[in-house]
Amino acid sequence: MNRQQIDALVKKMNVDTATGEVDARVQEIVVRLLGDLFEAIVDLNITQTELWKGMEYIADLGQANEVGLLVPGLGLEHFMDLLEDAKDEQAGVEKGGTPRTIEGPLYVAGAPESVGFARMDDGAESDSVDTLIIEGVVTDVDGNIIPNAKVEMWHANGKGNYSFFDKSQSDFNLRRTIYTDENGSYKAQTTMPVGYGCPPNGPTQALLTLLGRHGQRPSHVHYFITADGYRKLTTQFNIEGDKYLWEDFAFGTREGLVVTAVDVTDEAQIKANNLNKPFKHIRFDFKLTRDTQTAPSTEVDRRRAQG
Ligand code: DHB
Ligand code: FE
Repeated sequence: MNRQQIDALVKKMNVDTATGEVDARVQEIVVRLLGDLFEAIVDLNITQTELWKGMEYIADLGQANEVGLLVPGLGLEHFMDLLEDAKDEQAGVEKGGTPRTIEGPLYVAGAPESVGFARMDDGAESDSVDTLIIEGVVTDVDGNIIPNAKVEMWHANGKGNYSFFDKSQSDFNLRRTIYTDENGSYKAQTTMPVGYGCPPNGPTQALLTLLGRHGQRPSHVHYFITADGYRKLTTQFNIEGDKYLWEDFAFGTREGLVVTAVDVTDEAQIKANNLNKPFKHIRFDFKLTRDTQTAPSTEVDRRRAQG
């Protein structure tokens, strides 16, 4: 069967059969994807058994709630970011903004809010994991400070697990919303994250294994930055020195998003941060691009957990 015959068949089965109101956009996408799938089945000589293994895989993926893991794992989420970058360029979005990168599947809405500063950890790991101070400013691309910007942050604990999904952690552990102060600054006291690994017995890792791939991410911290008049930024920083820094299974690491966690042992600085042991320090500033009539929207409507 050639593509013309396939397209005619898809049309006969899924377009000509419409008796109710048609969502033209859904129809357009379904017809295209079915045509591509039928063509791939022909080209690759996909058997009925293989087709059903694939369908069963999708069912398992949904049942394990891992759709959001596989999408970044296959590079689809990063691919969408690259497309958005190209659209921005075409639309003439101002240059110099902090690069975007993947949201991932582990955001939870409703984290505690504060202005200027927050402690993100609940103290459960204080003795076993390094303390981390993260601070920075939010500005426009010209360096003008943006007070009252909403800085949402979330990251893993010292075992690479995220609260809410890991029920052994307290609610909203390592998740905070900090509004920048009058100087455009935010500061967080937290614990050093360890890179995330896909659940080893889940369907995402099962497919990655068949592809000869690992399912590990480097140590990282996620952000949403929102401010009136600017485009929402979805990004993260990834920490220098992690074995997986440039081998992230989710392809989230990008130039401009790599930071160094600096060891601070100076007693005066330890005291100034109300700490009693050496800590690690990361500076991460944000440059937001102005929202204009022609700038593509950066809002993504997707199902997110509510804590
Ligand atoms: C995945 C996990 C993350 O922590 C992340 O930031 C992105 C993706 C994942 O499991 O796919
Ligand atoms: Fe993550």
